[in-house]
Amino acid sequence: MSAEDIKTTVRERYGQAALRVVSGAGSSCCGGSCGTGTDDPITSNLYSAAETAVLPAEAVLASLGCGNPTALAELHEGDVVLDLGSGGGIDVLLSARRVGPTGKAYGLDMTDEMLALARENQRKAGVENAEFLRGEIEAIPLPDASVDVIISNCVVNLSGDKRKVLAEAFRVLKPGGRFAVSDVVVRGEVPAAVRSSMELWVGCVAGALTEDEFRSLLAEAGFEQIGIEPTRIYEFEDARAFLSGAGLDTEVLAREVGGRVMGAFIRARKPAPAA
Ligand SMILES: C[S@@+](CC[C@H](N)C(=O)[O-])C[C@H]1O[C@@H](n2cnc3c(N)ncnc32)[C@H](O)[C@@H]1O
Repeated sequence: MSAEDIKTTVRERYGQAALRVVSGAGSSCCGGSCGTGTDDPITSNLYSAAETAVLPAEAVLASLGCGNPTALAELHEGDVVLDLGSGGGIDVLLSARRVGPTGKAYGLDMTDEMLALARENQRKAGVENAEFLRGEIEAIPLPDASVDVIISNCVVNLSGDKRKVLAEAFRVLKPGGRFAVSDVVVRGEVPAAVRSSMELWVGCVAGALTEDEFRSLLAEAGFEQIGIEPTRIYEFEDARAFLSGAGLDTEVLAREVGGRVMGAFIRARKPAPAA
């Protein structure tokens, strides 16, 4: 699987997911089926009722993350926030409210259908301090040192060039800026059959970094104060659900993968200049 093949397939599949939401159906792309369900173990029940109550129904239906980064990130009034792979916009809209009118929340996504959905959700939510940008997380269309907080929800795993994503995140953060990302990570080894499945790459599992890889790529990019906390560990039944539909031996692989794949919150900081 080349990085370009991955990007083309991911764009196509998430474009279809956005159109399903527009047609009124739920969507769950994290998992082997990238299907129409809303109850997959990775994406379901990530937000509180208080959070979803203030959002358009389509923003909630389009939620395809694996965590709730704005609930865990340190966000201050006036901050500039950037969401890598913003999808239907749920975390951008939540962040925009948190940083208030003196702050701004950007969403960045490469899929036109997702951008259209996110902009429509922004309009319905009446949020003015947000902007959705078209582009790739490997080449962020923002200037150096222009962002206080980078968030992301289940997107770094989808990139075929994570080193570049983290280097770009570092570049656009201001000194002292925070990286506060939810993603799928892996503890230990995952079978080659899983790693080489395009279905499971699109489903946020095959491209997931191990905890150690994530730490070392963040450190290589220049980040410090790196921490990774599991937020949801996918056990056997969960693994069976997300492996199904990938055309593999689900029962056997779920036994190997269960307990090793997890949703996690990854935090790090760009060093601040010495006082
Ligand atoms: C799993 S969905 C998550 C969407 C959103 N963060 C959420 O929590 O609902 C992945 C999103 O990332 C976008 N995406 C994937 N790879 C990308 C890349 N390399 N550059 C920009 N966007 C990307 C897809 O278009 C899709 O909207």
